[in-house]
Amino acid sequence: MKAVVYLPVEDKTQWWVEMLQSLLPGWEVTSMDDPGDPASVDFAVVWRPRTGDLAQFPNLRAIVSIGAGIDHVLADKELPAGVPIIRTVGTDLTQRMREYVALHVLRHHRDMPRQLQAQAEADWHAIVVPVAPNRTVGVMGLGNLGAAAAQTLAGLGFDTRGWSKSHKEIDGVTCFAGTEGLDAFLDGCEILVNLLPLTDETRGILSASLFAKLPKEACVINCARGPHLVDEDLLAALDGGQVKQATLDVFHQEPLPADHPFWNHRKITVTPHVASQIDAGTGGRLIAANLLEFAKTGTCNDVADAARGY
Ligand SMILES: NC(=O)c1ccc[n+]([C@@H]2O[C@H](COP(=O)([O-])OP(=O)(O)OC[C@H]3O[C@@H](n4cnc5c(N)ncnc54)[C@H](OP(=O)(O)O)[C@@H]3O)[C@@H](O)[C@H]2O)c1
Repeated sequence: MKAVVYLPVEDKTQWWVEMLQSLLPGWEVTSMDDPGDPASVDFAVVWRPRTGDLAQFPNLRAIVSIGAGIDHVLADKELPAGVPIIRTVGTDLTQRMREYVALHVLRHHRDMPRQLQAQAEADWHAIVVPVAPNRTVGVMGLGNLGAAAAQTLAGLGFDTRGWSKSHKEIDGVTCFAGTEGLDAFLDGCEILVNLLPLTDETRGILSASLFAKLPKEACVINCARGPHLVDEDLLAALDGGQVKQATLDVFHQEPLPADHPFWNHRKITVTPHVASQIDAGTGGRLIAANLLEFAKTGTCNDVADAARGY
């Protein structure tokens, strides 16, 4: 079997080549920059490939996304049709997202930004907030990561809701589904967490019209993809007080440009796409296991549904 590896944006291709080679004895693992005969390549392991990169391989059996999302692969308008796309997911990724969501929901719940501001002013300012069962939090997207995040929030005692495309049953979580369920989900949702995949349906969903359906002074956490958010609408909602605070882990352009207004906004916390960044060792083992399984059986657990976009 032969796999090529390609991470054009992050320049870590060679490192991944060596790691996967060590995990796949008997396989040939090369960089996409030096693939040999393109017809001999069975698998491509990629993060943000460029348009046309994958079209050069006529016999690809599968494309592996180094990450849970496949939007960066589907963005290639010349993507070879019908080649399965394998996501990289696992308990490690889910655990990290649970931690990130719990941290930032609790931070907004306890009004930590205001508390830290008081400390900076040597102001003994006691902020008393409702207990978690009296705080309504909502998670958009109830897949691997969203369902786990919602369960974690419910476990902390929050009045927890979730929203997905098809209806779900999750212990301790009030579930809403479909466009017809969105307004009811948003109504009263004081802290909103986005864990949707990026698709044509969800691009720009975090917009002025959505913010207007949240209670005044809601908090917004986006840890899915940057293009879910209409940046200008968030800035206007923060200025107008409709949104009180936001935590953003993902951005239209990454790294976030140094002159972007989000960096220094006093109501925004920026983290550099680390909500659930898998460590490369764990990611490598998951990818190698999926490649071995796919090579043997022609499929594996983590094959995405490319037609629906996630
Ligand atoms: N910041 C980070 O470090 C980081 C790390 C990993 C992933 N992510 C992001 O997190 C996203 C979610 O990951 P995941 O593994 O949980 O995804 P997933 O398993 O594919 O789940 C997606 C969820 O979103 C729902 N959904 C999709 N389209 C919808 C729509 N139009 N309306 C309502 N609900 C919709 C799906 O509903 P159904 O269940 O009904 O289909 C499903 O519950 C990824 O796509 C990626 O963008 C971020």
